[in-house]
Amino acid sequence: MCGIVGVLGNHEVAPTLVEALKRLEYRGYDSAGIATVQDGKLDRRRAVGKLVNLSDALVHDPLPGKSGIGHTRWATHGQPTVSNAHPHTAGRVAVVHNGIIENYRELRDRLRHREFTSQTDTETVAQLCEEFMDQGLSPRDAAAETLNHLEGAYALAFLFDGEEDLIVAARKGSPLAIGHGEGEMFVGSDAIALGPLTDRITYLEEGDYAFVTRQGVEIRDAEGRLANRETRSIPMQAASLDKGGHKHFMAKEIFEQPVVLSDCLSQYSDDGQVTLLEGLDFTETDRVSMVACGTAHYACAVAKYWFEQLAGLPCDVDIASEFRYREGPVSPASTAIFVSQSGETADTLAALRYVQEKAANVVAVVNVPESSIARESDVIVPILAGVEVGVASTKAFMNQLGTLAHLAIMAARQRGRIDAERERELLNVLRGLPGLINLALAQEEAIMRRTAKLAEARSVLFLGRGAMFPLAMEGALKLKEISYIHAEGYASGELKHGPIALIDKSVPVIVMAPKDALFDKTISNMQEVMARDGKVWLITDADGAAEAGDGTWDTLVMPRIDPVFAPLLYAVPAQLIAYHTALHKGTDVDQPRNLAKSVTVE
Ligand code: F6R
Repeated sequence: MCGIVGVLGNHEVAPTLVEALKRLEYRGYDSAGIATVQDGKLDRRRAVGKLVNLSDALVHDPLPGKSGIGHTRWATHGQPTVSNAHPHTAGRVAVVHNGIIENYRELRDRLRHREFTSQTDTETVAQLCEEFMDQGLSPRDAAAETLNHLEGAYALAFLFDGEEDLIVAARKGSPLAIGHGEGEMFVGSDAIALGPLTDRITYLEEGDYAFVTRQGVEIRDAEGRLANRETRSIPMQAASLDKGGHKHFMAKEIFEQPVVLSDCLSQYSDDGQVTLLEGLDFTETDRVSMVACGTAHYACAVAKYWFEQLAGLPCDVDIASEFRYREGPVSPASTAIFVSQSGETADTLAALRYVQEKAANVVAVVNVPESSIARESDVIVPILAGVEVGVASTKAFMNQLGTLAHLAIMAARQRGRIDAERERELLNVLRGLPGLINLALAQEEAIMRRTAKLAEARSVLFLGRGAMFPLAMEGALKLKEISYIHAEGYASGELKHGPIALIDKSVPVIVMAPKDALFDKTISNMQEVMARDGKVWLITDADGAAEAGDGTWDTLVMPRIDPVFAPLLYAVPAQLIAYHTALHKGTDVDQPRNLAKSVTVE
């Protein structure tokens, strides 16, 4: 979603702003802009599309100044046009904003005597602030007063005419970081944007606003009281924003999976036992409730099988946007687990707030331990995947699975459903996975060949049984996200209850089926497809391939693995299929159209 940067520097600031915005590109955007103040005067440049268009605009029409703010916009209110791009100005004020101002219509009505130049909710913030300045308030007081009138979610940065040493920053519902330099100060919607500039970061808390000058920052809480917030050293993120020789971040992240999964496994198990999950006790838990969106939701749907089969715990899995409004009963003895790569997904955060005080334990399984979801939970379990830049989630999905597998094993052991020997066996299966994933990655060539044909399809079905069913849905999501081919994932057994009507020779069916207890049934489903001229691409192991025989469109042979944790291994071909199909189609793999990395609006 949108990205914010702000710099009070010692040099010309436009190149630094654009460079920092580049580091936020991964969040997804459709226009960009910067504003500076020079010789007391505000000015701005904005452009639709990629940042290169903004850079071009700056080459033709440079923007001088050592103080500035910048923004990448992902359109919500109003189309991606230059006039809707941020920064928005109103006379002496320029504003950049992430989030949504929910009462913007009301505010616009109140300000109808003023001239608006965009369709955005954000412009009302700039206009309101200028209105307070017209009434005699100083820029600081006008910005603070403006915040009192805003409803909704925001991270905001204000810049003012005549104020070359001031940015006012504010956070409510959308994160904002303040970076400390040597005689310079920075603002960023995440620490990644500020990586090359500083590693000393202060995160604003909910409701905080801050007066940033080159000398430092004065932070006030929602009530206007001076607030002391910790300044932390966040490890330099610069290296992780390198593609490491790969064509795309997504490819880099797919190939990083053996390493990041190993990191996760070493963190959460030692000497055949699950470790380091203090604060989590499933002994008295009567139900696990897991809530997430998108890919993270599919990770939960896989983990449901583990909690139920290994730990004997009833487990609900919900899409956050549905869960938050369903107002379902929450058992006071339940453990609620919220899974989110970014830790900022608006629906997941809202669902968490609904459950707080109702469930016995609220657990955040996140990739960003400083995120809002982490901060509002009782227990934080980081997935340790490292920064994920590709919009389509890959290594975070892998480590969500790895982390949830440990939670389920721990729950099973605490509840006496497995003994120490079985715990060791299960952890051994997990420990073997990085090596097996490397073997799966070595199948890239074979996948590449078949995807040349797959890329011609208009529609693709993915089938799976048991824990491979949610993986089929994840495979379909990956494919549609980055190749724009329509794809759906179904439980194999559900095929003849409807989707089989779609089958003909133009609809490839990808069957993800390790040889397990239900494999025979999957073979029958494949036969049903093939009997209708459907093209089956079977992904299985050597035993499965031998049993399935000939007649498939293609068969990809994966290493053998205990079926309980097969979804982690089979995620790799699912990701490579999506990636190579997208390459054949020539789509924008790392920043697919309309998508954002961190979805901070409903
Ligand atoms: C798909 C994808 C999304 C996210 C979803 C939740 O590849 O990345 O479906 O999984 O938007 O995001 P987080 O995990 O940040 O809450």
